[in-house]
Amino acid sequence: MSKIDKNIIEKAVKQALDVRENAYAPYSKFKVGATIITKKGNIYKGVNVENSSFGATVCAERIALFTAVSNGEKEIEAVVIASNLNGEAVYPCGICRQVLSDFNPEMNVIMVNSDSKKIEKEIKLNKIFESAFKF
Ligand code: THU
Repeated sequence: MSKIDKNIIEKAVKQALDVRENAYAPYSKFKVGATIITKKGNIYKGVNVENSSFGATVCAERIALFTAVSNGEKEIEAVVIASNLNGEAVYPCGICRQVLSDFNPEMNVIMVNSDSKKIEKEIKLNKIFESAFKF
């Protein structure tokens, strides 16, 4: 489905699985690792970082995206999400879908099961987030 180089996807999957170990999730115990693949072929990592003021928690996908942007990269090809909930890989939350959509509504969303370490689902963002708000 995706036109992204297979080697880059493989690297981004491995990095998302590895970085997941750094997730700070003492409240939910639910660890998420994410990577962003840019048009230039670079990879940026993020994990979920929770807070005792629960609303201040930030998801792994947004941290990875904000890291890409902080490094001067705004052309995003894909987001890779590594986690596992009841034996399945997870979709990005609604807030992350909106935030990612501002940068590229057509990006690939690649969901990796952190138990099997395999890509479980792959879909275009606009298929799971239609009619995005755009200011
Ligand atoms: N979380 C993510 O990091 N990404 C998702 O796609 C879903 C949810 C985090 C936020 C919080 O730390 C924990 O998972 C439980 O919601």
